[in-house]
Amino acid sequence: MTHVTISIAQALQQACQGIVHTDARILLQYSLGVNHAYILTHPDQALSSAQQQLFFRLVARRMDGEPVAYLIGECDFYDLIFKVTPDVLIPRPETEILVELALMRLSVNYSNRILDLGTGSGAVALTLARHCPQASVVAVDLSPAAVSIARENADNLNINNVFIATGNWFSELSGEKFDLIVSNPPYVAENDPHLNQGDLRFEPRMALTASIDGLSCIRTIIAAASDYLVAGGWLLFEHGYDQAAACRQLLEAAGFAETFSHPDLAGIMRVSGGRL
Ligand SMILES: C[S@@+](CC[C@H](N)C(=O)[O-])C[C@H]1O[C@@H](n2cnc3c(N)ncnc32)[C@H](O)[C@@H]1O
Repeated sequence: MTHVTISIAQALQQACQGIVHTDARILLQYSLGVNHAYILTHPDQALSSAQQQLFFRLVARRMDGEPVAYLIGECDFYDLIFKVTPDVLIPRPETEILVELALMRLSVNYSNRILDLGTGSGAVALTLARHCPQASVVAVDLSPAAVSIARENADNLNINNVFIATGNWFSELSGEKFDLIVSNPPYVAENDPHLNQGDLRFEPRMALTASIDGLSCIRTIIAAASDYLVAGGWLLFEHGYDQAAACRQLLEAAGFAETFSHPDLAGIMRVSGGRL
């Protein structure tokens, strides 16, 4: 088949008939190995046949619903770029609030001990480790595949103050004490119809769902956390849009003080926590 040469501007225009402009632009940047500025400043540059094929294959997969982050194999989180594969959840902007609230409770020059439960790509643990270079961070995940991606991210980002292990929540941490425990655990109810929509369809179920009410992982973490926190230590975790009140009740019943919930940018209570 003869290859019809098209320009950057034409490729974008064609792709935008099926997918949104930002997604098309990011897939084009990836296909050409260039940045946003290049796309803006070279609208008339022709795509090679290989670039064109790669780009329109990715556009077709995006039209079938695959998340852009999985198609290009990476995702921005906070101020770092993380490798992601379908073995890990794609880090969400809401989770940056968990990081912000954690950083507010840490002193940059103090050797805090931090635990991240359910680390996935390592987004939370590695961001905290980068921003608190004196801290020592432990990150665990039940999925060996996720642990291996998190370790790869630690290597790629050259972050050395983090230890990443496979484990079932606290199972490998007997006798350890932390100043801060953070978690973005699975919190979607098993029968939530959103699981069959959008990006969620492509993400690992074990990263998303937690029993009928979505609270089983949060209950487990709250029940055990006090054994692994120093006196005055904080537990902070992300949860679903309608779970804040239940989470604060669970925290108070487990002996936590200064309990709070904090909204995301949409005004939805998204992170709760308490102090031992
Ligand atoms: C919502 S994802 C969060 C991933 C990452 N922290 C983030 O915010 O992008 C939840 C993670 O918890 C892990 N997980 C599920 N059950 C677990 C368990 N029993 N023990 C440890 N990790 C678990 C999943 O494999 C998944 O990586």
